[in-house]
Amino acid sequence: MNFLTLVMAVPLQRPLGQDGHDQRPHGKHLLGQDGHDQQPHKQKPHKHNKHKAKKVLGGDSHDRRAHKKLFGQGNHDYKKHGKVLGGDDHDIGHMGMFKSFMKQHNKSYKNKAEFKRRFKIFHQNMKKVHILQQNERGTAKYGATKFADLSEHEFRKMLGFQPHMKPATSSMEPAVIPEDLEAPVSFDWRQHGVVTPVKNQGMCGSCWAFSTTGNVEGQWAIKHKQLYSLSEQELVDCDATDDGCNGGLPENAYEAISKLGGLELEDDYPYDGEDEQCHFNRSLAKVTVNGSVELPANEVAMAKWLTKNGPISIGINANALQFYVGGVSHPLKFLCNPESLDHGMLIVGYGVHTTKYLHRKQPFWIVKNSWGEDWGEQGYYRVYRGDGTCGVDQMATSAIVP
Ligand SMILES: *[C@@H]1O[C@H](CO)[C@@H](O)[C@H](O)[C@H]1NC(C)=O
Ligand SMILES: *[C@@H]1O[C@H](CO)[C@@H](O)[C@H](O)[C@H]1NC(C)=O
Ligand SMILES: *[C@@H]1O[C@H](CO)[C@@H](O)[C@H](O)[C@H]1NC(C)=O
Repeated sequence: MNFLTLVMAVPLQRPLGQDGHDQRPHGKHLLGQDGHDQQPHKQKPHKHNKHKAKKVLGGDSHDRRAHKKLFGQGNHDYKKHGKVLGGDDHDIGHMGMFKSFMKQHNKSYKNKAEFKRRFKIFHQNMKKVHILQQNERGTAKYGATKFADLSEHEFRKMLGFQPHMKPATSSMEPAVIPEDLEAPVSFDWRQHGVVTPVKNQGMCGSCWAFSTTGNVEGQWAIKHKQLYSLSEQELVDCDATDDGCNGGLPENAYEAISKLGGLELEDDYPYDGEDEQCHFNRSLAKVTVNGSVELPANEVAMAKWLTKNGPISIGINANALQFYVGGVSHPLKFLCNPESLDHGMLIVGYGVHTTKYLHRKQPFWIVKNSWGEDWGEQGYYRVYRGDGTCGVDQMATSAIVP
């Protein structure tokens, strides 16, 4: 069973708009038409704060502590959350959440119909959040991120990793793993000045291009002691093997860079997030690539290679990402199939988290995403390391730069 079927299998006890019954009371009291909803909230700030900050969005340390204490210790925590996050008969909570979500992310909708449509999507999404949270084995929090009003279809547009584009005969060489190297307990290439700030791919399936530039930026910086921010748009426009905003693969992109004659800087070939005519100017290319390597699906080997050689381009299953707020993400396999990779990212480091109360060790990868700094942990994702979670080890590659 995949994530979507599971989510859809949760019955809506009172589907919105089916008989109008649900709508009417909402329309009158909750949509803010007459300010009725606002007043009680303003008059009872204590109650409002409790729901918004402590129980729902996980926005303060109180919520985090409660979670750590209660993780895996029965249903008590989930029941509490169920009331607010996933309860079918608690539309009031979702509407309150939806309004604070709109405020927090500065969302506005062009008319009432759009508002209703978005609320319906949000409502469904909070059920997915509940399922992810209920089955989480790490410390991750899932919630109303800036993507919480996007449908599954819209969210998929922001991915773009296409494993089926893998060529029949790969030009990649197997990576040489420094087996004798004693990898440190933790390592972070961001502390070595070889990682550019988090970028934003927008509503274009160009993750593959960002994963590629991130890797090449690191390779170049380590080898030449010069960190450049490189152009994804050049790859979107000029890499004919891949498919621009419809997706691609770093493996193809490394070769495309070689064939094109290099990559221009972000500033010289800026990102527009749309498929455009290629206007690559070879004399502006600042870096080149002259080969690529494929890492084994072995996270111990990956860590060794990373500490010696630099950040690693990966493909991953994005099921846990739309609602990821922070923490070490460790979803169950059936919620994040490791064989179905759909998003490209960049591993820049790793570490081990120790839980506060039970002192459980949670090894993680530090993964750079391309959805802006206002997603995840300042644009980064921490995913469990050691058991192939979400397929993190399935398509690990790197360019070789001359
Ligand atoms: C909020 O959104 C409005 C309308 O989209 C925009 O004009 C405004 O600049 C935004 N404000 C912030 C702080 O992002
Ligand atoms: C390519 O870049 C060079 C250096 O900036 C410039 O002189 C040349 O006109 C550019 N060529 C085109 C076709 O834009
Ligand atoms: C890539 O560049 C390096 C360094 O210049 C060189 O040693 C190597 O032979 C090159 N490989 C290919 C395939 O051109």
